[in-house]
Amino acid sequence: MRPDAGLMPAAANRVAVRAARSGDLTAIEAIESRSFSADRFSRTTLKRLIAGRTASVVVAVASAAAAGYAAILFRKGSTVARLYSIAVDPAARGQGVATALIKAAIRIARRRGADRLRLEVRASNALALSLYDRSGFTFLGRSPGYYQDGEDAIRLERRL
Ligand SMILES: CC(C)(COP(=O)(O)OP(=O)(O)OC[C@H]1O[C@@H](n2cnc3c(N)ncnc32)[C@H](O)[C@@H]1OP(=O)(O)O)[C@@H](O)C(=O)NCCC(=O)NCCS
Repeated sequence: MRPDAGLMPAAANRVAVRAARSGDLTAIEAIESRSFSADRFSRTTLKRLIAGRTASVVVAVASAAAAGYAAILFRKGSTVARLYSIAVDPAARGQGVATALIKAAIRIARRRGADRLRLEVRASNALALSLYDRSGFTFLGRSPGYYQDGEDAIRLERRL
């Protein structure tokens, strides 16, 4: 069992965040396809992330169903962790699920020795930007044309 397995208390009352298992793959894939129109992770990529040692994937479970997921990447010899992906099922949004996933990501990154958590977000994703702002992320920079469709990324960092 991976060190971050097991239920973790979350911000929202009915939401628990736990390590993802291979049995969550179909639910995560569905959340991914309902959440992103471009740059989606394939099932193979998600499978690799769940099984790999350089990533931690967590799922938020609400009312017995997977409501959202997050993937955190680690690099050997680096104390910078990367919040690689986060998505919440459209039916479960606005209830603090993403906030709970971010808290879990911070806890896991700290536990694995990271002192910073970084991410990229589309410049137009106002909802995600305000969520990260409330979760303590600050502006690091802007990467022009970062996404496949040419949109800029905003790079953010949270000190842990
Ligand atoms: C961005 C995203 C992860 C947020 O997930 P979420 O679980 O809805 O986020 P939270 O509920 O924790 O926080 C959202 C905030 O917006 C508010 N909100 C109000 N109505 C909302 C609605 N219909 N949908 C979403 N958020 C809403 C929430 O109340 C909350 O604010 P608060 O903390 O001040 O109350 C989700 O919208 C998503 O999966 N989007 C598509 C994928 C994406 O953009 N991922 C980020 C890529 S970097």
